Amino acid sequence: MKGSGTAARKLRFAAAAICLILTARPTAAQTVVDDRALGDEAQGANWLSYGRTYSEQRFSPLTQIDTRTVAKLRLAWSLELPTDRSLLATPLVVDGVLYFTGTFSVTRAVDAKTGKLLWEYDPKTIEHSGDRLRIFWGSSRGLAYWKGTLVIATNDGRLVGLDAKTGKERWTTQTIDVTKPLYISGYPKAFRGKVLVGNGGTEHGAARGYVSAYDIETGRQAWRFYIVPGNPADGFEDEAQEMAAKTWKGEWWKHGGGGNTWNGFTYDPEFNQILIGTGNGSPWNQKVRSPGGGDNLFLCSIVALDADTGTYKWHYQTVPGETWDYNSSMDIVLADLRIGGKTVKALMHAPKNGFFYVIDRSNGKLVSVGKIAKTTWATDIDRKTGRPIEVKGSRYENGDAIVWPSPFGAHNWHAMSYSPKTGLAYIPKVELAARFNDQKNELIDWRSPKFRFDVAVDTGFGNDIPRDTGVSALIAWDPIRQRKVWEAPQDGFWNPGTMVTAGNLVFQGRANGDFIAYDAKTGRKLWSAFLGSGISAPPITYEVDGRQYVSLLVGWGGAGVGFGGGSANAKYGWAYRAQTRRLFTFALDGKAKMPEFEPPAFPEPIVPADFKIDDALADKGRGLYVGQCLMCHGAGAVSGGAAPDLRASPILLDPSAMKGVVHGGGRVSMGMPQFKELSDDELEALRHFVRRQAAQTVDALKPAKVSKKE
Ligand code: HEC
Repeated sequence: MKGSGTAARKLRFAAAAICLILTARPTAAQTVVDDRALGDEAQGANWLSYGRTYSEQRFSPLTQIDTRTVAKLRLAWSLELPTDRSLLATPLVVDGVLYFTGTFSVTRAVDAKTGKLLWEYDPKTIEHSGDRLRIFWGSSRGLAYWKGTLVIATNDGRLVGLDAKTGKERWTTQTIDVTKPLYISGYPKAFRGKVLVGNGGTEHGAARGYVSAYDIETGRQAWRFYIVPGNPADGFEDEAQEMAAKTWKGEWWKHGGGGNTWNGFTYDPEFNQILIGTGNGSPWNQKVRSPGGGDNLFLCSIVALDADTGTYKWHYQTVPGETWDYNSSMDIVLADLRIGGKTVKALMHAPKNGFFYVIDRSNGKLVSVGKIAKTTWATDIDRKTGRPIEVKGSRYENGDAIVWPSPFGAHNWHAMSYSPKTGLAYIPKVELAARFNDQKNELIDWRSPKFRFDVAVDTGFGNDIPRDTGVSALIAWDPIRQRKVWEAPQDGFWNPGTMVTAGNLVFQGRANGDFIAYDAKTGRKLWSAFLGSGISAPPITYEVDGRQYVSLLVGWGGAGVGFGGGSANAKYGWAYRAQTRRLFTFALDGKAKMPEFEPPAFPEPIVPADFKIDDALADKGRGLYVGQCLMCHGAGAVSGGAAPDLRASPILLDPSAMKGVVHGGGRVSMGMPQFKELSDDELEALRHFVRRQAAQTVDALKPAKVSKKE
């Protein structure tokens, strides 16, 4: 990928920015999307919220497409999204209209039967972002619907209420202090006339996490709950903060503390409670954040809050005193489970830490736990106390340790699903280790000005991630026996979320571009289609006029593509803007033609014979790169596809061209932040680092064949 075609891209971007109202839909029977509808597990025509219904099971009762008929599943329609990049969202379907958020939360409504665009709304995220453009990739995981109001969240922190019919803005609320390194990539959650939203942070400066609920008609704040306590001298917001403060040491509030909830919100109507999965520490390294230890509540926990007031009810902490970027922001799935002759009102949760939890949601007590992946930080979970049995040395006590799982987790936000029919949970699981090292003093001297990536520990992001790093699998997990029932091995470590149906099918896309249907009981692969680019979003299913459809966004994105990257993710050839993004919809005997796909692209690192690499400069450049460029351009300057591969960019060969883009902000409108504070010497150091990386990794992707076989 070269820098050519930028002007044309800008034009397309501008054209798409105009809010269009193309057609009005004919009115059919209207579903009132309220608590009753959102809690109705039996209706299958609509997909009303992130996890389909309040249970977050991502289980559809539809059966037209089943283990026998799935062989006839074909493309019904597809929609090109030429200005989009990262697509992670779970679309919603209400009465034959499909709604989804694209890159930078551009929101569209399409006719769910034909794929015809009905309207488009652009919240102009880049224009609202300022310097915080540095800390996100334009990802949005979804939206919320309540009685004709659609709510979207933007990376820069706004919550926007839209008229679902027209896409016209009804209200806008800024949910974060724009001077703080916070952003939203998660989905808002509608419940009882309110909408809940959290935020991300913890990697780019002092961050204190919280969730807030807003009135869904007006956007006015109803309540807010802080995940970690602030400075005791300022007084605590509530009793929960006071309790939590006893589990912290030092001057944690100076570092923010973290806990940011960026995903994993469940409304539990039976107990009228909001369950939130909380995040990791800010910064990751506990020695810096809370010197001397402590549990650091409510990091890495499930916290139950009263849905009407946001008042604390109970919590269960999966990783006390977390120090590995483990978080519990993964999905929280509700089900009644028959355990030991009793029905348990359970929640199921597979956080990053490698364990699978069944928790009694009436009181937050651990019911049972199993291990889904290799864990070297803890051997097991004590059944009585619910606390992990930690392995000595894994807290990099001596400054250095290799630990499983990695900060990408044994399970990340890629949604699991649960079928009450098979009684199994379907989890995209990852086996990957990371080396944590905090021997360098500057890591401990944690400041992170100007939204610099700094987590107070080095996990090797300055280096390439070799192509065969990490394996993963789709696993079917029995939550009652806490054991694996089947496993479908996968390539790479960044495979997306799942959906399961009463037709006994599990659907899942893949990093390699395949979309697959498995027999939910046996794991046998029954159907697959190649969709032209890496898949990072989970599928949905719905019904219009008696016909069942399956939809999926295709747009490689998220952390594995952004600051992950490296050869492990570059090996697929989903380079920056090399493949068109699309929304695909399938049905039995679908008649649409598959689009023509662009081939995989492998940017070739440039190794100029006349460039003399100065190692001292390159070392300095490495630090600058990790702090400022890694987020998007990838580990070791090997891009996973979120931004151009700098090793192959001709712009870096010309110091003044580079200065125009990086210092001058020449590409801000395309999502490349401006770095006014970087001096000419620092830009030169970055150039030397990138050239050294280019020379060292020039052969990293050879042989660069992507296997599409399992
Ligand atoms: C938040 C994400 C993000 C961060 C952080 C970021 N970039 Fe970028 N960068 C991009 C995107 C996206 C583009 C592509 C813009 C376009 O389409 O023209 C880009 C393009 C570039 C280009 C032009 C490459 C080409 O061949 O077209 C250069 C040079 C560049 N970035 C350097 C840097 C440097 C140096 C840093 C760190 C100081 C950095 N970037 C940090 C997202 C980012």
